[in-house]
Amino acid sequence: MDRFIIRGGIPLCGTIRVSGAKNAALPCLAASLLSDEPVILGNLPSVRDIRTTCKLLENLGVNFDVPITAGPDPTESEITDSELETPESARAFGEHGRMAVQAANLTNCEAPWELVRTMRASTLILGPLVARCGEARVSMPGGCAIGARPIDLHLKGMEKLGAEITTEHGMVVARARRLRGERIVFDRITVTGTEDLMMAAVLAEGETVLENAAREPEVEDLAALLVSMGAQIEGAGTSVIRIQGKPRLGGAMHNIIPDRIEAGTFVAAAGITRGDVTIETCRADHLQAVIDKFRETGLLIETPTESSIRVLGDRGISLQASDMRTEEYPGFPTDMQAQYMVLVTQAEGTSLITETIFENRFMHGPELVRMGANIRFDGNRAIVRGATPLSGAGVTASDLRASASLVLAGLVASGETIIERVYHIDRGYERIEEKLKAVGARIQRVPA
Ligand code: EPZ
Repeated sequence: MDRFIIRGGIPLCGTIRVSGAKNAALPCLAASLLSDEPVILGNLPSVRDIRTTCKLLENLGVNFDVPITAGPDPTESEITDSELETPESARAFGEHGRMAVQAANLTNCEAPWELVRTMRASTLILGPLVARCGEARVSMPGGCAIGARPIDLHLKGMEKLGAEITTEHGMVVARARRLRGERIVFDRITVTGTEDLMMAAVLAEGETVLENAAREPEVEDLAALLVSMGAQIEGAGTSVIRIQGKPRLGGAMHNIIPDRIEAGTFVAAAGITRGDVTIETCRADHLQAVIDKFRETGLLIETPTESSIRVLGDRGISLQASDMRTEEYPGFPTDMQAQYMVLVTQAEGTSLITETIFENRFMHGPELVRMGANIRFDGNRAIVRGATPLSGAGVTASDLRASASLVLAGLVASGETIIERVYHIDRGYERIEEKLKAVGARIQRVPA
């Protein structure tokens, strides 16, 4: 398992380009199951979860040997993951993360445990597979580091659309001759639950209304792809989504939106090192709550264009504590909570952080305390007292965003920080160490 070695204390300076959004790319890849025609996706990030999803789709019979209408073949440097066992999907990656996939002849309808256990978002094949083939078998995703993360809302929604759901040997089996449109009110807001059911509904008979739906930009991006495939969807990005089912969908071309969490992570990296960094190829409007909150701590942030965010150096202003509460979009995203926590360890005063989305998302906290942070935990609340100098230490990553916060801590800590198990970070950040090195960070990846 690779590790990072970071020597902190350097204010970052320069420009960082953001990759495509992992959490938009995953449902968009799953949406290719809804048509027998080619779906060409651009701006895909080269991260582990995308490669895992490609293995999953290949396992179902999806064809990756589809000519990409434009763009040269991939260069070796783009496919870095030695674990990639499926050459087809490796070849499929064209320049600028372009990939063409075609679910012409599905040969299987099962997402096996060995794939689901590494990526719970495999449940995103449930809706499209039942809609397209009438059956899906998905290994029950266990919990993960940040919580139990059940999929009861996905299954209740599928049953409302007429699917018969059973569980056999740890597998969820969903069957339906043809799904029927229905009104579904989610008990609580679920991002992939909204995406799963939107994909089930586009081929259902009649109208489906999803209420209390997730409003995340990734949901909107999926809806944009589905509409370009011929689906009829209104209200994506709001809490009420109306879908008129169609008999079939065609192929499409679609560029994935930029990754707002990657962008926010780099804003935090610039802020915590008091550097001067411009983050490009992002969507500043997808990060409004994050930008507003960071400004409350005293960070000087400009948005020169709608696709760039500039963090100015400290200009002699010290960071100030500010309370934060995670919320569903457009509130402050839970996926930025760990990054915010490490930032406010460097702020004067006491910040109260309340995590409202997941029940166990402070795993990064004790590791930050080992580096010198002053944080007390009380259920879903963390009380951070700053500013406290951090000192480099050996730490262990536990989940994707926690590992990002440990990188940020290493960038500001005195001395050397060694982060173990960086495969967590590789799930959702494309070559993060190269992007940070390019703006002055002293970070290197040490292969295991
Ligand atoms: C998506 O996960 C993201 N993953 C997560 O990003 C993100 O943290 C999360 O949304 C919240 O924004 C992808 O999009 C692939 P939820 P998801 O369903 O859909 C409960 C990252 O770091 N719930 O919105 O799995 C659930 O336990 C990842 O990129 C049920 O109770 O999250 C949680 O407490 C981490 N029953 C809350 O709802 C269900 O059936 C929100 O979960 C579904 C969810």
